[in-house]
Amino acid sequence: MPTAQAARRARELRERLRAAEHAYYVLDNPVLSDAEYDRLLRELAGLEEAHPGLRTPDSPTQRVGGSPSERFEKVAHREPMLSLGNVVSDEELDEFDARIHKLLGTGADAPVDYVAEPKLDGLAVELVYQGGRFVHGATRGDGVTGEDVTANLRTVGALGANRGVLQALPAGAPPRLEVRGEVLLQKAHFEAMNRRLLAAGEPPFANPRNAAAGSLRQLDWRITATRPLSFIAYEALVPGARPWATHWEKLAALAALGFEVNAENGRCRGLAEVKAYRDRMAARRFELPYDTDGVVVKVDDLDLRARLGAASKAPRWAVAFKYPPQEEATRVTRIWASVGRTGVLTPVAEVEPVRLGGAVVARATLHNEDELRRKDIRVGDWVLIRRAGEVIPEVVKSIPERRTGEEREFAFPAACPECGARVVRQEGEKAWRCTGAACPAQLVGRLRHFAARRAMDVEGLGERLCAALVERGLVKEFADLYRVRFEDWQQLFSRPRKERDEGEAPPELPEKAAQNLLDALARSKATTLRRLLFALGIPQVGDATAGQLARAFGSVAALLDADEAALQAVRDVGPEVARQVRAWTGEPRNRAVVERLLAAGVEPAAEAAASGGPFAGKTVVLTGGLSTMSRDDAKAAIERRGGRVSGSVSRKTDLVVAGDEAGSKLRKAGELGVRVVDEAGFLALLGE
Ligand code: IVH
Repeated sequence: MPTAQAARRARELRERLRAAEHAYYVLDNPVLSDAEYDRLLRELAGLEEAHPGLRTPDSPTQRVGGSPSERFEKVAHREPMLSLGNVVSDEELDEFDARIHKLLGTGADAPVDYVAEPKLDGLAVELVYQGGRFVHGATRGDGVTGEDVTANLRTVGALGANRGVLQALPAGAPPRLEVRGEVLLQKAHFEAMNRRLLAAGEPPFANPRNAAAGSLRQLDWRITATRPLSFIAYEALVPGARPWATHWEKLAALAALGFEVNAENGRCRGLAEVKAYRDRMAARRFELPYDTDGVVVKVDDLDLRARLGAASKAPRWAVAFKYPPQEEATRVTRIWASVGRTGVLTPVAEVEPVRLGGAVVARATLHNEDELRRKDIRVGDWVLIRRAGEVIPEVVKSIPERRTGEEREFAFPAACPECGARVVRQEGEKAWRCTGAACPAQLVGRLRHFAARRAMDVEGLGERLCAALVERGLVKEFADLYRVRFEDWQQLFSRPRKERDEGEAPPELPEKAAQNLLDALARSKATTLRRLLFALGIPQVGDATAGQLARAFGSVAALLDADEAALQAVRDVGPEVARQVRAWTGEPRNRAVVERLLAAGVEPAAEAAASGGPFAGKTVVLTGGLSTMSRDDAKAAIERRGGRVSGSVSRKTDLVVAGDEAGSKLRKAGELGVRVVDEAGFLALLGE
């Protein structure tokens, strides 16, 4: 790129980056996604690399974070609070390791000892203790000068979210100690807090990080005191002294002083162990109680660290491995109300496709009408979308700063967009529901659910095919699926298709595809009672309840005849579920649907009556990663043996299965004296 053009682009990038930093650090209200910010920053760094004359001392590539807000007193950090270099691939991680070997002059085969830590997605702060007392604390600010938020920091932990900011240290603490760490809001606290803000008519926060930053950076500490903030320590400095030989020792010392230190931190010998740690953390990131956006890798030996030193912005002894972004900015191209199998109308935003958590996303949910109004999402808006784990991506917020005036509001439909029937919203409900008994969209949703993997598991029968079957009038109820003829399938597969359903076979000869589907349908007839009950879509009957009902009743006929009292006797079935199940089984049309399925040849095998065995009637909690099976498979194996899997450890837990890197649940089990087995022990129990 010629220099004049590069100079223009560099100026533009700097302006955009600065505006984004201001919005993020000062206003706690992002206008770029982290991923967009990183991309622009990388582009600027590339330009400055190619044209060194363009590099200015105040370029965002040379500075850390945003400038401190004028609203707070400024404090200079005795030692600058640096940023971290980012890497996103194994190759870049290898380069980091290779650089360290080179700088230290050590052989490539002598592994460097590292400490790996979850990269906490909160707000970095520094706490200064003098004579064992907390004297002041500050945000990172621009790395050199931060904001004095001492009074606010004193309240962190006061609501018991964790140990928080200690006011005083035990005797024997160094005369001056600077502790660095992250102030954050745990996910559950974030959600509860946003609910409270909404109820009070105040704007909610986009994500836990913004909420933590917004809560800490209040002018009135009394507001901060109402927010359940946590503090986790990860660095410490004793000016003029070197009390620890390794980072690991330093973390232990922080814990001994009473600070919360992350129990997930791990010691790694060499880069291979770092990568294994990162993979384990990435797999578990959505189970952790707080948001993480990567893994921080630090050289453990503090002498080596001193030798490695720092570049202008970040130390050479540490690096952040960033996960693929879970949040992205994109534009809404259309909003529509999708009608689900239960008739609920869900507003959905169609967006310009973006990569999110490793997949391309083109749609995100807006949940319901209230959310849509509250977030004021318009067609044409730039929005942040976010995906956490397996859940459907959602629209987090619009970015009104990027509006052009062309955006249009979406009018929520007054009738079902699919069948035109009246929509109703029951007292206390968030959802509008279509009342059309013959609504094709509901039927498509029910068929899709019927064919799902954990239901009848009809491979290849996805959303689009279900829609085509309904549209052509080939299927009006479940049993019709088994009567669709070869020629009809063939025709469906001959239709021109731009896109295919997930799991649908790649384009192949229509005859072949048709035969595959007929085979899949034939296979699905030999099913289990649990799968069939789940597939029917009985209100309140999810996969787990279907399993309990199947075990308790053993046959379709017995379930259809069970009264409310008999239903309530089943584990996990309360009065409301019993009432709704009975209302469903009591409806002659539903009974006929089931009878026609059985007549079509569906043959559910009774669930093995799981009495006896080590899991029968037991509540089990899975924590950590298992190397021989997935979480889902482990859960299914326990349930098949009559056990129940729960997400949290309590006094009612009978057994905790602790895999690799088990964390807080394992600790809790220890505290409550719950029996714990490791993976080998678990496999042995499964074999019994
Ligand atoms: S160490 C120079 N450890 O990452 C060492 N930082 O980009 C920097 N962060 O502002 C701090 N988790 O907010 C460190 N376990 C961890 C961290 C962590 C999150 C954040 C911190 C800092 C940013 C650096």
